[in-house]
Amino acid sequence: MKISFATTSLPDTGAVVVGVLEGGHLTPAAAALDQTCGGAIHRAVKAAKKFSGKRDQSMTLIAPHGCGYSQVVLYGLGKPKDLDTLKLQAIGGTVQAALTSSGETACAILLDGLTDCSLGDASVAANLAFGARLRSYRFDRYLTKEKKEDKPSLKKFTVHTGDVKGAKHTFETLDKIADGVFLTRDLVSEPANVLYPESFAKRCLSLTELGVEVQVLDEKQMKKLGMGALLGVAQGSENKPRLVVLRWNGAKDKDAKPLAFIGKGVCFDSGGISIKPSAGMEDMKWDMGGAGVVTGLMTVLAGRKAKVNAIGVLGLVENMPSGAAQRPGDIVTSLSGQTIEVLNTDAEGRLVLADALWYAKETFQPEVMIDLATLTGAIIICLGGEYAGLFSNDDALATRLTLAGKAVGEELWRMPMGPAYDKQLNSQAADMKNIGGREGGSITAAQFLKRFVGEVKWAHLDIAGVTWSKSDSPTVPKGGTAFGVRLLDRYVAEHWEK
Ligand code: BES
Ligand code: MN
Ligand code: ZN
Repeated sequence: MKISFATTSLPDTGAVVVGVLEGGHLTPAAAALDQTCGGAIHRAVKAAKKFSGKRDQSMTLIAPHGCGYSQVVLYGLGKPKDLDTLKLQAIGGTVQAALTSSGETACAILLDGLTDCSLGDASVAANLAFGARLRSYRFDRYLTKEKKEDKPSLKKFTVHTGDVKGAKHTFETLDKIADGVFLTRDLVSEPANVLYPESFAKRCLSLTELGVEVQVLDEKQMKKLGMGALLGVAQGSENKPRLVVLRWNGAKDKDAKPLAFIGKGVCFDSGGISIKPSAGMEDMKWDMGGAGVVTGLMTVLAGRKAKVNAIGVLGLVENMPSGAAQRPGDIVTSLSGQTIEVLNTDAEGRLVLADALWYAKETFQPEVMIDLATLTGAIIICLGGEYAGLFSNDDALATRLTLAGKAVGEELWRMPMGPAYDKQLNSQAADMKNIGGREGGSITAAQFLKRFVGEVKWAHLDIAGVTWSKSDSPTVPKGGTAFGVRLLDRYVAEHWEK
């Protein structure tokens, strides 16, 4: 789907979308269209029993008399003063989905006359376009027999605006964000026979085109470094592990300490010898969601040439049972030197992150470390699919992340931490065990990670509940969500590029 911007004169054919304000008041564009259509819009709004222009109500006139339009969509905008970037993105996404499923090939949208809205014309138009693009994502590369009429039809999405130049400029950045979101969604959607550590690392190499430095460590190099925790998880799989380091050096001061983003990249989590039940095990192809988000984020930062130094570290493994697999009770020595008694091989994400976090900290002395992981089923029990769990050793960092999440519609809920949880990890046989009790499972998982971050400011996002969505929402079609890409891009832009 091609997105473009044009002046406020709407085309004469195809589908057009215009706004109606609360109370049924036509926007200037709707009123002009009403003239073209011989009063059809006025009549329709008057006759409609329930349509009153409230936000997200909509009404479609099919081929109104006297004009060449196949559809005129009247979109309820509510009160302009209540509109913000997220609501406009939602409108763009909703309109896109409706028109592409109705078979339209081109649409033009113009929401004008929003005088009380705090956003300027450029921002209104750019956010409509951003929402439309985000919703247009589709993972269909393996659908070889889909009928043409079932494929999305919309090829052209034109946003009309009083400020074409400004809209294009604002959209440039948003378009780069969408590029990163799409890459993450692709990675998360790929099945594990296609996306395994080696092939994931290979895909990361394409980031070099954007100016990202990509370094890939193989099993031998990790062994030499002493990453016993990560390697223990990987040892049961035919697909060998990789550690990928992505480096974007965009700050004015090339030697400024970087931000580090660390992703859990378990390309398939069978549970290992502590094997999972078969129902739903296919979901564990997206257990690399954290690494997927970090890859997408680095794509955004490089794509929009962010003035920041950032590191991405991806711990890529597969967790499989086999004769070579790690056993419950095994004791491994992590890169930090701390030993871990592996009581449950299905608590593998934290083992991977233990070494990835320590590596990031020691190698780059980052300003801040933020890890993302589909770490625990327990966080889904806590927060469902609405919020990701946030754990942090730094209040200011936690607040900044929470606010960034709110601003982009990727919400975080901070969870408690503390010594009472930490001590559940103490083991008789080693420095720690890899599981606590069943209770507070997401928190003990976070406490485990905390043992590998030292004094660095750190936040952990448990994204198990938000990485995959079972239903469509306005800007996120069902499937991989890329939750975290927009949030972290926002956090970087707001706090590290000024
Ligand atoms: N990858 C899973 C967590 C998960 C579950 C993510 C469902 C997405 C959906 C993780 O590796 C895991 O298996 N965690 C265990 C930990 C337990 C053994 C302490 C869990 O949550 O059950
Ligand atoms: Mn697991
Ligand atoms: Zn896992």
